[in-house]
Amino acid sequence: MRLMPGQVAVITGAASGIGLAMAHQFAQHGLKLVLSDIESASLQKALAELTDLGATAIAVQADVSSETQVKALADAAYSAYGAVHVLCNNAGVATPALRTLAWETPLSDWEWIHRVNLLGVLYGVREFVPRMLAGGAPGHVVNTASVAGLVTGSNPYFVYKHAVSCFTEGLYKDLRAVGAHVSASVLCPGLIRTRIMEAERNRPVAFGPSTDLTALAHDVQTLAAKFKTALDHGFEPAHVAAAVFDGIQHDHYYIIPAQPALLEFIDVRMQDIQHRRNPTIPAPVI
Ligand code: NAI
Repeated sequence: MRLMPGQVAVITGAASGIGLAMAHQFAQHGLKLVLSDIESASLQKALAELTDLGATAIAVQADVSSETQVKALADAAYSAYGAVHVLCNNAGVATPALRTLAWETPLSDWEWIHRVNLLGVLYGVREFVPRMLAGGAPGHVVNTASVAGLVTGSNPYFVYKHAVSCFTEGLYKDLRAVGAHVSASVLCPGLIRTRIMEAERNRPVAFGPSTDLTALAHDVQTLAAKFKTALDHGFEPAHVAAAVFDGIQHDHYYIIPAQPALLEFIDVRMQDIQHRRNPTIPAPVI
């Protein structure tokens, strides 16, 4: 779809990182914003930052793992602006223990990451897409998965990002099947300089304690430290936001702003499947 001033973009996880960068990108092109995040203080800061730059924006605090709160977000967006053209289901979390063994990851990690990373996206689609379709205007849904949603790992982050990528491809086909003016993209960033490794700042106590890295195997701790360094040297979130903007304008389903070594991982996995080869064990890139 052609993005134009006056259209409305809703972004979850908008107070930091990729979500905040997308908000800036849309605002620069005159879109009105509905910024949403679980973190109240940083959300208000993002709102002030954007409105000071001249953006038209509202902020709605919402936890995407709550169906009720996502419904309230959609109600607030429609009551403020009467339409939504771009929906970015972007909020997501991870633990720093990215390579625990399949049989060792705590069930509480599975539950928390499932609720935020998968159900958060599902609730967004269920609450907004019927209203976007009923509105009749062109629209676009961008669901944030990850390169982790295209390569494999036994960690819940990988597993639920795969689910987001599968669900989004299905959504794309469903929208085509009904001849909708709304389309969909999956966003699969590589290593991006954000606060994702501090995501447990938003972990509710109901989903168990935050990761005690010192209690984990030495190699898991080492990988977590290396991963944090790799993110600190990763792409800027603005690079991802520019790719999203371009992807929506050109109706690209796959938006993959990722480092060449990660793109190579995706290719190798695709070739494993194509040639019915056992999974290649990749050489470490970080
Ligand atoms: P970030 O931590 O800087 O931003 C995430 C935002 O989501 C934060 O403002 C946080 O408060 C919010 N959030 C967390 N839980 C929430 C909840 N339950 N409800 C509503 N908001 C919530 O991290 P980043 O990297 O900007 O993350 C954005 C998305 O990008 C996530 O889905 C993440 O998995 C994905 N991603 C990030 C990559 C990276 O290298 N940083 C790579 C691939 C994907």
